[in-house]
Amino acid sequence: MTYQPGRPFLQIPGPTNVPLPILAEIAKPTIDHRGPEFGRLGREVLTGIREVFKTAEPVVIYPASGTGAWEAALVNTLSPGDEVLMYETGWFASLWTRLAGRYGLKTEVIQGDWRSGVKADAIEARLVEDKQHAIKAVAVVHNETSTGVASDIAAVRRAIDRAGHPALLLVDTISPLGSIDYRHDEWGVDVTVGGSQKGLMLPPGLSFNAISKKALDASRNAKLPRAFWDWEDMLASNKTGYFPYTPATNLLQGLKMALSMMREEGLDNVFQRHNRAAEATRRCVMHWGLEVHCNNPNEYSSSLTAVRVPQGHSADGLRAEILTRSNMALGNGLGRLADQVFRIGHLGDFNDLAVLGTLAGIEMGLGAVGIPHRKGGVEVAMSSLGGNLAPQATNAA
Ligand SMILES: Cc1ncc(COP(=O)(O)O)c(C=O)c1O
Repeated sequence: MTYQPGRPFLQIPGPTNVPLPILAEIAKPTIDHRGPEFGRLGREVLTGIREVFKTAEPVVIYPASGTGAWEAALVNTLSPGDEVLMYETGWFASLWTRLAGRYGLKTEVIQGDWRSGVKADAIEARLVEDKQHAIKAVAVVHNETSTGVASDIAAVRRAIDRAGHPALLLVDTISPLGSIDYRHDEWGVDVTVGGSQKGLMLPPGLSFNAISKKALDASRNAKLPRAFWDWEDMLASNKTGYFPYTPATNLLQGLKMALSMMREEGLDNVFQRHNRAAEATRRCVMHWGLEVHCNNPNEYSSSLTAVRVPQGHSADGLRAEILTRSNMALGNGLGRLADQVFRIGHLGDFNDLAVLGTLAGIEMGLGAVGIPHRKGGVEVAMSSLGGNLAPQATNAA
């Protein structure tokens, strides 16, 4: 490995930088996952994680990446041939649809433009048409990590209710969990899917299903094959703090620390910190004269900002330059956005100086690869963080 002085900047929108107290916890000796110490740890994290989902319902924790928890949400609630209404907000929504198709579910996709969020009215209209209630679930992504667009999940719930439709509401909150407010109970979500490697400041390897009573009831009749993902086995063992198979012990030790750090900061303060970082980032980007990819200011994501590069320029070339020059990794454009956007992750263990360092690295990179821009974006970000600017910048401003 070639040594590069200074700390690396991992500014992809997850996995995120893991702070030292969490790393130290993960580095502690692995404990017996059937012993009394583990039981205490298990009970603590299984209860504590509910605070982040804002739920009094059970949350199961898988030793898996988010994709596993996507799969778990489907196989526990649905049967072969069931119809699922999905909304294509971007790359990750399209992957979830593909996964559902592989399980033999009939997916119907409302196409989005990959620059805005879920239009709840479109979901309502489709559900109203579905008089026979053939659609068994509506599946949406809360924060589309490929586009930097956050959708209004409460509005989706209201749309389903207005349609008087019994479909389950399945929500992917993998990238915003712990960085954007999320309310599993209040928003009437049936299964929420989360992951460890973003706002929770943990490495990849844990994922979650928060489960409503309605979803649990549905799981009793759901016929898709399931073994590793089965909620029943999980929930039975979780009652005493244990797992039906070997849990990711050390990551759970890290989760305990992450939850305690978030509790100490206060969840509202955590979200506020992310809002400030996101706002400063957008102001800087707009000052450069580049375009924030998200079209609707009400849907700007506080976890990440996707930035469009002008036609004729390469987002990947810019990212490569920044990686070499500043040892900073930025997110790439995914799917149809390849090479057109780069994504700035401003989530997890992140403070004002990290915002400014990130933006300074990008501004230097823009100059190095010759992408036309107005200098001084970092100063604008400083003013924004200092609270010297009126709230909410938009592309048009
Ligand atoms: C919104 C969203 N959904 C799903 C996934 C897939 O999760 P994983 O890569 O942990 O399997 C990601 C990963 O970044 C994501 O951001």
